[in-house]
Amino acid sequence: MGKDVIIALDFDSKEKTLAFLDQFTEEKPFVKIGMELYYAEGPAIVREIKARGHKIFLDLKLHDIPNTVKKAMAVLSGLDVDMTNLHAAGTKAMMEAALEGLTRPDGTRPLLIAVTQLTSTSQERMESDLLIEKPLDQVVMHYAKCAAESGLAGVVCSPLEAGKVHEVCGKDFVTVTPGVRFADGDAGDQVRVTTPAKAKELGSDYIVVGRPITQAADPVAAYRRCVSEFVG
Ligand code: C5P
Repeated sequence: MGKDVIIALDFDSKEKTLAFLDQFTEEKPFVKIGMELYYAEGPAIVREIKARGHKIFLDLKLHDIPNTVKKAMAVLSGLDVDMTNLHAAGTKAMMEAALEGLTRPDGTRPLLIAVTQLTSTSQERMESDLLIEKPLDQVVMHYAKCAAESGLAGVVCSPLEAGKVHEVCGKDFVTVTPGVRFADGDAGDQVRVTTPAKAKELGSDYIVVGRPITQAADPVAAYRRCVSEFVG
């Protein structure tokens, strides 16, 4: 699995996003477009960034009835993104339908990965609000296993869970991990953080890095530092 750094483009407009990307004159980073930017600018922003030569992880976390997700995924695969995702809580039937929708007529498709339990969900909340009473780490691994059995390529998880996910789902099952901070950086609102070097050691395949790069005084230098710590 090719290890890579994915920059989270958490901006609310095309202008801010393109001004940020314009700083990268020598490399074309893999980028993540999430709900904020997608809902602000629509599919046109995906096409524009793709046309600039970037790989794209479209992070829209789909969760609906299987038929609706299948049709939505067919639209997203037409946008030619490289990676997209859904909630494993939508069940295996939904994940299988999603894969079908995402597969292009020539048999290729973007990597489809699953969100297991959001990191914002605590054990207490999961029990009280969702009535799921198993230990959280067991729930995460079970959802990862369901995603693998449905044919998905991987999951979003903490770097701290990447090793266990590989043990349970196989070494080729992709782990995409946010919550990355430089050793000398500010954690912000992330609670369990690891450095890019530590994420590499723990077996993450892709790290998703937002503010340590987007808010850096020199984003290109911060990106290069991430790549050199994580990739090699
Ligand atoms: O700025 P920061 O590096 O914290 O950005 C991390 C990115 O990864 C954000 O886009 C955030 O929404 C996303 N993410 C996360 N934790 C998860 C899933 C996604 O931080 N469990």
